[in-house]
Amino acid sequence: PISVLLMSLDFLDNHSEKVTPDVNKKLQDGIKRNVYLLKELVDDILMLSRIDERKMKLKWEEYNLLKIIGDILTLMEPIGNAKNITFSVDVDKNIKLYGDTTKIDQIFRIFIDNAIKYSKESDKIEIRAINHYKGKYNTDEKEGVLFQIKDYGIGISEEDLPSIFQRFFRSGQVSDIPGTGLGLSIAKELLNLHGGEVWGKSDYGKGTTFSIFLPMIEKRI
Ligand SMILES: Nc1ncnc2c1ncn2[C@@H]1O[C@H](COP(=O)(O)OP(=O)(O)OP(=O)(O)O)[C@@H](O)[C@H]1O
Ligand SMILES: [Mg+2]
Repeated sequence: PISVLLMSLDFLDNHSEKVTPDVNKKLQDGIKRNVYLLKELVDDILMLSRIDERKMKLKWEEYNLLKIIGDILTLMEPIGNAKNITFSVDVDKNIKLYGDTTKIDQIFRIFIDNAIKYSKESDKIEIRAINHYKGKYNTDEKEGVLFQIKDYGIGISEEDLPSIFQRFFRSGQVSDIPGTGLGLSIAKELLNLHGGEVWGKSDYGKGTTFSIFLPMIEKRI
């Protein structure tokens, strides 16, 4: 984003005679979009370095999972609607967990953002949560919730799947879609701080499912 910014600003500086209102608007939109991307990148890098330095302080409180998901969807559904994506949500309204709500919010935003971004036109996205889940994503039989987000988008190849939680990793097929490759690594770290775990499964070309197990804990672990 920095080079695009510099190019646009240079153009404005050196070719002011060519800058019609139309061109001006285009340049401004581009500058705005790239400043926004730059802000996201800086925020992500700051967040990761705080985690690395163990300076991330969590504010533990009880939260309602459906409320968090509902609030995120209210904000993000318009982006999905632009692609004609439909959401189905099956989350019990009584699921209560403990954690830092702003961090929990960020975790789910990352997965929902990816599901939308890597879906095709008119795909659907399914979100569900199973309370008191015991099974292959919780072999220790802890008390907790399994959250799943399933999309029918571009999918992830078997070769790429083991790398998606690495910082800055982006698969080759998404190079024309904006992103820095930090989202999932941040989500994994934040989940870790809540005692949670995440698994990705994908059918290349058909879709992806992320399963997140959040244990029922009341205090910092
Ligand atoms: N739901 C999904 N469907 C297909 N590919 C996905 C999905 N989620 C993640 N990926 C792949 O994993 C990579 C890493 O995802 P991650 O969220 O960390 O980064 P990003 O989306 O590229 O950028 P950002 O940091 O802006 O989120 C993506 O670039 C993409 O290749
Ligand atoms: Mg992402």
